[in-house]
Amino acid sequence: MSQRERWATRIGLILAAAGNAVGLGNFLRFPVQAAQNGGGAFMIPYFIAFLLLGIPLMWVEWAIGRYGGKYGHGHLPGMFDVVWRNPIAKYIGVLGLFVSSIIMIYYCYIESWNLGFSLFSLSKTYFGMTDFNSMTGFLKSYQGVEKGFFTSIWTAYFFLIITLLINFYVLLRGVSKGIELLAKIGMPLLILLAIILAIRVITLGTPDPVNFPERNVENGFAFIWNPNFSMLTDAKIWLAAAGQIFFTLSVGMGTLEAYASYLREKDDIALNGLSTASTNEFVEVILGGSIAIPVAFAFFGEVATLEIAKGGAFNLGFVSMPLIFQKLPFGEFFGFIWFFLLFIAGITSSVAMVQPLIAFLEEQFKISHKKATLYVFIGTFISAHLVVFFFQFGVLDEMDYWAGTFLLVLIGFIEVVIFAWIWGMDKGWNEIQKGADIKIPKFFYFVIKYITPLYISVILVYWGFTDAVPTLLMHNIPAEQIPYRWATRLFMLLFFALLCFLVHKAWKLNKPRYE
Ligand code: PHE
Repeated sequence: MSQRERWATRIGLILAAAGNAVGLGNFLRFPVQAAQNGGGAFMIPYFIAFLLLGIPLMWVEWAIGRYGGKYGHGHLPGMFDVVWRNPIAKYIGVLGLFVSSIIMIYYCYIESWNLGFSLFSLSKTYFGMTDFNSMTGFLKSYQGVEKGFFTSIWTAYFFLIITLLINFYVLLRGVSKGIELLAKIGMPLLILLAIILAIRVITLGTPDPVNFPERNVENGFAFIWNPNFSMLTDAKIWLAAAGQIFFTLSVGMGTLEAYASYLREKDDIALNGLSTASTNEFVEVILGGSIAIPVAFAFFGEVATLEIAKGGAFNLGFVSMPLIFQKLPFGEFFGFIWFFLLFIAGITSSVAMVQPLIAFLEEQFKISHKKATLYVFIGTFISAHLVVFFFQFGVLDEMDYWAGTFLLVLIGFIEVVIFAWIWGMDKGWNEIQKGADIKIPKFFYFVIKYITPLYISVILVYWGFTDAVPTLLMHNIPAEQIPYRWATRLFMLLFFALLCFLVHKAWKLNKPRYE
């Protein structure tokens, strides 16, 4: 077996895994989900999902990953193949390659907006757009949806190219010299920037005490922390909370497994996995929860903040925040900090998304790292055009729904079943404990074996009854988007078929011999 790359240091590994998990999801998706789903009441299903789905899956994925790495696999098809030893396993593993690569296609685009907007803040480009309409117009013209400040899509296109080049430059340098180094610089910086912003928000007080004394930060925090318990009976909130846990922790994606595959057999995964999960939660709940929503509340009040949250993450991040920066002293710097922080959070996640595919090409087809990275770069670049040029037709939303909302939950289910029921819970438990620096309470043995699979089954069944048909048939989609969304589905199916074909070829080329 050829020598695998390794993480250089333990702190580097933890920062890289935390960088994988901490992303746009923590600062944009989380606040919107919390505000839309009952504020403080959301936190109850959220923490339950963290405990019963997030943490257990985190350990399961690190265990599968480290074990797969022992056989030279940095991707889910190979890992499922070694733990299940069934000819079908590798094709199920294709889902892992698929989901993270599809997410990459749109995620890197949003990431690139942040690079653009961080510079627009410093140069005060959007200063002067002081109401919702004109700021929305600015964003839409940037996205090429409407003519306005930007007369074409090319500015956005330019920042996308720069973003992709940075991503793939990091990936080209490899695991320890690229991904790990990026995380060692990026994560501390990100946390520092987020703390600066959170402090700025907390010390804001009441921006307009004469006209709107009730619009202040305290009420803003109360808005997301005071539970509206009557909403807890709504199954949708439980679903949203579980979905957020999957997305934010990067579980059900195949990327944490890929990172864990660069561990040595005796390296700890119990504490590393837990540290990754806790870092992510600290950044999400404490920092992510203290910025965008409370500040929107302080400036715009409750009704408007709810409205903004309903409009989604882009509204919150790219319209409401820039409006606020224009009202703050040194707003251009705070604006820069906000968008640059998002950019860093984004890039430490996006490099994780395509690492499995690069590893797959390298390991299964015995091509050089350089070549594999180049192929994946070209593929990502070409596919991203769909998202850029057909943005207003829901291409991004369609990809996000299937890859970023639905399939990751399905993968989580398959994974925990393979782990606890096919591989066997005792074997799996030993694998998690091997080299462990902490003792995991036996409670989690039962959680992983029974509760996690059951919990996810309920989610999937509920989805099947309420969402499956209307979503598949696009009941609530504007008519002009429908053909584009079908085209997006066709694209995804073809991509999935291509991956299956590659797996088929790879295993024919050189049959892996285990034992
Ligand atoms: N967890 C990341 C976030 O919160 C997103 C992500 C998705 C990362 C897929 C890796 C793989 O933004």
